[in-house]
Order: sequence, then C-alpha cells, then structure tokens
Amino acid sequence: MTLPTTTKAVRVFEHGGPEALVYGDHPLEPLGPAGVLVQVDTASVSGWDLKYRSGALSGTVKPGRRPVTLPQQLGREAAGVVLATGPAVTRFVPGDRVVAVVHPENPHSSETYRGLGNLSGGIDIPGHQALGAYADLLVRDEALWLPVPDGVDLEQAATVLWPYGTAHRLLRDRLRIGLGQTLLITGASGGMGEATIRLARLAGADVAVTTRHAGKAAGLRNLGAEFVVVTDDPATAAAQIRDWTGGRGVDHAIDYTGDPTLIRMCVDSLRLGGNLCPASGNQRSPGPLPVHASDLSRLEMSVIGVRGARHADALAVLDLLARGRIGVTIAARFPLSQAAAAHALLEQATDLVGRVVLKGGA
Ligand SMILES: NC(=O)c1ccc[n+]([C@@H]2O[C@H](COP(=O)([O-])OP(=O)(O)OC[C@H]3O[C@@H](n4cnc5c(N)ncnc54)[C@H](OP(=O)(O)O)[C@@H]3O)[C@@H](O)[C@H]2O)c1
Repeated sequence: MTLPTTTKAVRVFEHGGPEALVYGDHPLEPLGPAGVLVQVDTASVSGWDLKYRSGALSGTVKPGRRPVTLPQQLGREAAGVVLATGPAVTRFVPGDRVVAVVHPENPHSSETYRGLGNLSGGIDIPGHQALGAYADLLVRDEALWLPVPDGVDLEQAATVLWPYGTAHRLLRDRLRIGLGQTLLITGASGGMGEATIRLARLAGADVAVTTRHAGKAAGLRNLGAEFVVVTDDPATAAAQIRDWTGGRGVDHAIDYTGDPTLIRMCVDSLRLGGNLCPASGNQRSPGPLPVHASDLSRLEMSVIGVRGARHADALAVLDLLARGRIGVTIAARFPLSQAAAAHALLEQATDLVGRVVLKGGA
C-alpha cells in the first residue's frame, strides 16, 4: 500500500476552550522500522484532556518527563486495526486489532528495575508529550501497542487501560483494599470513578461515592456504588458517610476532584487507621493539602499517592476485560471532527456518568 503522509486529526495550537481543538489534515509521522500504522476506531476523552486543552497543566512537569509543549495532539487511549508495519516489527501484521499502551515503561529505567515502571522516566507519553489518539491514523512503535484479546470490543479496549490500570495499581498495591472494607470515592462519575468502583466491588469492598449533582446519582448506582452522597454541604456529607459505616468511618478515601473542601471531607470521613489517597493529580486551588499533622497522629491515618500504572496492571486489566469481569460505560460517542462538542459535553453536563469517546473514520 502507498503509505499516507497526512491524517485527519485534532490538535491544540493555543490553550483555550473547546474551540481550541483544531480538526483538519495534519502531518502523519513517517513509519519507521519498528513503527505500526493503525486506523483508529476509538479514542477516549478524559479529564486530563480538558486540563491540557485549557492550559491548566501548563508548566506542570513530572519528574523524569519532558514538559508538554504545543502543538499537542490529545488522547491517552486508542484502539484500532493495523494497516501497515515497519520491517522490524515482529508482533503485529496488517488486520490485527490493537490497543494503545497508555502507561509506557522505559525498560532501561532504574524505576522499572525496582518494579515501579509507572514512574520510569526518559519516555514520552502519547497524548501528553507525544502525539495522542485524537486522529484517524496513528503511527507508534510496536512496543506502544498491545493485542486486543479475541472477543473484546475495540471500544471497550480503547477505554479500559488508562482508568482501570491506575485503579488496579491503586486498590491492589497502594491501598491493598480488602474483603468487606469500606471505600469512599469523590468525583466518581468519570472513567477513574467507574474503574475504581467496579474493581473495589470485585475485591469485596463496599463503596460510597460523592457527586455535586443529584442528576448523576442513578448513574453512579448503576456503576455499582452502594451509597451516593450529593455534596451540597461537606459537613453533612461527611456525617452521612460516617452513618453509612455505622459511625466508624471509611477504611479508604480516594479523591478524584482535586477540590480541597472535598479532600478535607475525605479526612473527616476516615476511620481510625484509615488511608487517604488524593489522586486528582493537582489540587484545584493552590495551597497545601488540607491535612494537618494532628490528623496523622489523631487518626493514625496515612496519605498515599498514586501515579499511573505499570505494564503488569495493564495486562491484568485486559485479562479481566476478556473474562467479562469488568467493563466501561460509554456515555456518549462523537465523530473525531466533533471533538470540541465532546469536550463541551464533558465539561458542562450535570447528569453524565461514564466515558465520552471519539470515533475515527467519521
Ligand atoms: N494519580 C493518577 O495516577 C491519576 C491517573 C488518572 C487520572 N487521575 C486523575 O483522576 C481524576 C479523575 O479523572 P476522570 O477522568 O475520571 O474524571 P474527571 O472528569 O477529571 O473528573 C472527575 C469528577 O470530578 C468532579 N469534578 C469536576 N470538576 C470539579 C470541580 N471543579 N470541583 C469539584 N469536583 C469536580 C466531577 O464529578 P461530579 O460532577 O459528579 O461532582 C467529575 O466527574 C482526575 O483529576 C485525573 O486527573 C489521576
């Protein structure tokens, strides 16, 4: 086949609102010896994408990573079909169904040797420093693709690795969640929320969630949350959560909102000896984490961090998906050309629960 040199894609040249997403013909990376050219079926839209598009993450640099520069092609997640491969590719042939690795590990990093490949540096993350999935065609090295297991839908594959991979690492290895334990999740209506609810339930935990919008409560229950609290008043919300646990408080609280008031509500909902994981990646208003030294000794609580997932988490998640143990709720689908509308929906909807995806070739 004659290899294409351009692709329909969505890029960000200047930070701004959804209108900053520019759809059009953009240059395609050439197919190198280890390259795999993929026709994208599905790319996801995530909270990260909104933050990068708006500029909320400008200047944020993670240890071991290059800064993110413009122009940027957003999109952590993608799944599609292989169209062509470079001469050195051994794992894929045209027609194979593949899913993008969302948490690539640098095999030569000392962090990878320590079993912490999620923290490995010297690697550009697609959708952040490297071109992301908002495109019809993607060229990436074969190490950045995984085979989609037989029987697994491409849309499910495209949306499972980022949130479930991170939630798998967080629940299994960071919080070590156990049978019958209680977990509170704030901001649970996005991809991370669903993944965390479903994996926690699979592990035998009881899950309470919060939302700012009563219109999301039914959707959150459908994801598996046993108790839903609308956070009009944080003090009341903390009291409701404590009541739900028979007065003890929750074993673990994960914050996905970055709202300091809700992070504090998590602390006020914890059981003695409980764990707080402020997982949003960045607090919405500047300032210290609303946890005091006295909280740590009064509650003997722990503050636990998480940053992405390892390769092993991704493989475990694909296996769970192939076995029908987990799934992703797709709340809305847009053609790639309407990425701006997809961003606007995710930003503004007060009843949206689940993932928003972009469909390539449309
Ligand atoms: N640490 C890591 O390794 C890691 C990995 C992946 C993602 N993350 C972070 O995890 C979080 C969840 O990601 P996501 O894509 O699932 O969801 P998201 O769309 O970024 O947001 C999650 C929820 O937060 C709530 N929220 C949004 N804006 C808010 C505001 N201004 N104040 C209070 N609450 C607000 C919303 O819930 P309601 O409308 O229901 O209130 C929303 O559904 C994000 O912050 C993301 O950056 C961290």
